[in-house]
Amino acid sequence: MDKFVVRGGNPLVGTVRISGAKNAALPAMAAALLTDEPVVLENIPEVRDIQTMRKLLVEMGAEVELGYGRAHHRTTIHCCGPIRAEAPYELVKTMRASTLVLGPMLARTGCARVSLPGGCAIGARPIDLHIKGLEHLGANITQDHGYIEARAGRLRGGHIVWDRITVTGTEELMMAATLAEGETVMENCAREPEVADLAALLTSMGARIHGAGTATIRIQGVPRLRGARHRIIPDRISAGTFVVAGAMTGGDLTVANCDASHLGALLQKLTETGANLQVADDGIRVTGDGRLLAADVNTEEYPGFPTDMQAQFMALVTQAAGTSVITENIFENRFMHALELGRMGANIKIEGRRAVVRGKTPLSGAAVLASDLRASASLVLAALVADGETIIDRVYHIDRGYERIEEKLRGVGAQMKRIGEMFPKRAALAPAQ
Ligand code: EPU
Repeated sequence: MDKFVVRGGNPLVGTVRISGAKNAALPAMAAALLTDEPVVLENIPEVRDIQTMRKLLVEMGAEVELGYGRAHHRTTIHCCGPIRAEAPYELVKTMRASTLVLGPMLARTGCARVSLPGGCAIGARPIDLHIKGLEHLGANITQDHGYIEARAGRLRGGHIVWDRITVTGTEELMMAATLAEGETVMENCAREPEVADLAALLTSMGARIHGAGTATIRIQGVPRLRGARHRIIPDRISAGTFVVAGAMTGGDLTVANCDASHLGALLQKLTETGANLQVADDGIRVTGDGRLLAADVNTEEYPGFPTDMQAQFMALVTQAAGTSVITENIFENRFMHALELGRMGANIKIEGRRAVVRGKTPLSGAAVLASDLRASASLVLAALVADGETIIDRVYHIDRGYERIEEKLRGVGAQMKRIGEMFPKRAALAPAQ
């Protein structure tokens, strides 16, 4: 298992380029199941979750072709042969977003078998609302041996009011409804930019969708969809993570190739902390001397403060003067990083869904354990300002969603390296035959 070794203390200076959004690319790849023509996706990030989705699509019978050289962030998906309509446990357990194939598979083939995801490090994360939504469109869904099995003739349009806002639920149903008979109206939808990006892809495939990116989405079903070419939006959470890194370490960092309009709530909070931000057309420049002030945040659905930036913001406010209160409203168990930050010297008290962070406390390098994707990012950020060396274990979590983060950070002055297994397996030591 790889680890990161980070030596803190260097201000970040230079330019870092942001890759495509993992959480936009995953549903876009699943959407390719809706047509027998090729779908070409550009700006796909090279991260582990994308590899998992490629593997799943190949298992289901899709032809998946990768771009090479300058086009290596391009993936062409062609589902022209018979589809094996199953997402097995082995893949779903490593990536919950695998369940995104359920809606398109059902709409295209009339049946789908998908392993139920279990619990998750950040919360229970059931998919009951996805199931309820598909039932509204006429699917018959049963559960057996840890799998859900969905069957339908042609899905038919329906009226769905989400009990609570769900990002992948909105995406799942939007995909399914594109091929349904008649109109689907969904209210209380997720308004995340990733939902709007998926709608843009589906529209270029011939779908008729109005209102994606707002709370009410209307989809007029069509009999078939065609192939398309689509460029994935930049990753707002990666961008936000680097902006926070710039603000924490001081220096002068430009986060290029991102869309600042997707980061409104975060940038407003960072301004409150005293970070100096300049927003340009395709990037954000952050400068400062590392002197920061406390700020409270409440995580909310978009356009509110993203839960996916909560851990990184917590790392930042350990370095801000005063008391910050962070309230996590989306996931019930998303404070695992607080304990690890505490081991580095942070003063954080957890009270249910609230974390009270008292700053500024000096951080010192320690051996810490990454528990999920964004928690790992917060440990990297803390390590960048800690005294001495931090060793972060289980960095496979960070590899799921950040493309070569250590190379990007090294490129702007961080002292950081990846180390492999300390003790190579015996087989690796055997002499060549
Ligand atoms: N929920 C239910 N039932 C459902 C669906 C959701 O109770 O059927 C609950 C969840 O347990 C959670 C809340 O509703 O408490 C919101 O969850 P949502 O469905 O919006 O989350 P998601 O779609 O599973 C996506 C991102 C997450 C991100 C959340 C919230 C993808 C692939 N994942 O998850 O990203 O945290 O939205 O913004 O888009 C990450 O990238 O690190 C990550 C976890």
